[in-house]
Amino acid sequence: MPPRPLGTTGLTVSALGLGAGRIGGPETADADVDRLVGAALELGVTLIDTARSYGASEERLGRALQGRRRSVILSTKLGYGVPGVPDWTGPAVDAGVDGALARLRTEVIDLVHLHSCPRVVLERGEVVDALQRTVRAGKVRVAAYSGENEALDWAVRSGAFGVVQCSVSLVDQGVLSGAVPEAGRRGIGVLAKRPLGNAPWRFATRPEAPDVAEAWDRFGALGLDSGGLPWDALAARFAAFAPGVSAILLGTASPAHLASVARAIAAGPLPTSVLSTLQAAYARAGAGWSGRI
Ligand SMILES: NC(=O)c1ccc[n+]([C@@H]2O[C@H](COP(=O)([O-])OP(=O)(O)OC[C@H]3O[C@@H](n4cnc5c(N)ncnc54)[C@H](OP(=O)(O)O)[C@@H]3O)[C@@H](O)[C@H]2O)c1
Repeated sequence: MPPRPLGTTGLTVSALGLGAGRIGGPETADADVDRLVGAALELGVTLIDTARSYGASEERLGRALQGRRRSVILSTKLGYGVPGVPDWTGPAVDAGVDGALARLRTEVIDLVHLHSCPRVVLERGEVVDALQRTVRAGKVRVAAYSGENEALDWAVRSGAFGVVQCSVSLVDQGVLSGAVPEAGRRGIGVLAKRPLGNAPWRFATRPEAPDVAEAWDRFGALGLDSGGLPWDALAARFAAFAPGVSAILLGTASPAHLASVARAIAAGPLPTSVLSTLQAAYARAGAGWSGRI
């Protein structure tokens, strides 16, 4: 997988990143994470994204990356969830970074995102300043923001972040005419979260999880035709080659799913005619849809 520049951070990443949001629960064993990380490295994946809120994901990755930490760009997200410390304060960021360093068993984290931090908090400046202090202290390489809508727009224009993370998929195309090109103009790297749009084609009936249910509603409203391609390949190629996107973060616990998407990306961008159909469907049905956090 050819490396891509992550904006102007000086870092490079594979177009396919592993989103480690699905390896933090009790259904996953440490050995599963070792296998998943091993498979990712064999496929040429050099980017792994986790978060404080993903259960045991950070700890498990820390363990699985022992001895191979340098093979990946490691990304996490924080700002909350430190016992005894109010969320979205400078101390929550400071202690959050220290905690993540310990759980990930590393001396420096490549990317640290403020995780769905509301715009009003960003504007206060305290958490942004705290994150930048951790960069100056050598604990974090790049300050990043993860979120949507008006908070994302503020983050992109603030000059405070080298990377942003936002939803980009067949059912999340709104940012492609807003925050993503603006980020590109400013040299900010863009990580596409939820790149399969939560793979809504898997469900015959409306799923229960609210975020996946919303994706399923959107997918139905778009009325897309996969044109004979497997849906995961269509969705992955759409997101991975969207102009301005540095890498996608595929959420999976499955080495087979990761490999399937790696093969899809190796096939390159979608043909222009296919792309136009997907964009036209969104312009018709999705014009008022907001970014899915
Ligand atoms: N910052 C934020 O607030 C935020 C929010 C959401 C996501 N994210 C980031 O984005 C990553 C991905 O998000 P996501 O997991 O919500 O959405 P996603 O990647 O669009 O979809 C993941 C779902 O698709 C399934 N899947 C993966 N590969 C597949 C394939 N080839 N064929 C069929 N199904 C497949 C996964 O199940 P299997 O495990 O069975 O493969 C999982 O249920 C997260 O891990 C995280 O890094 C960030």
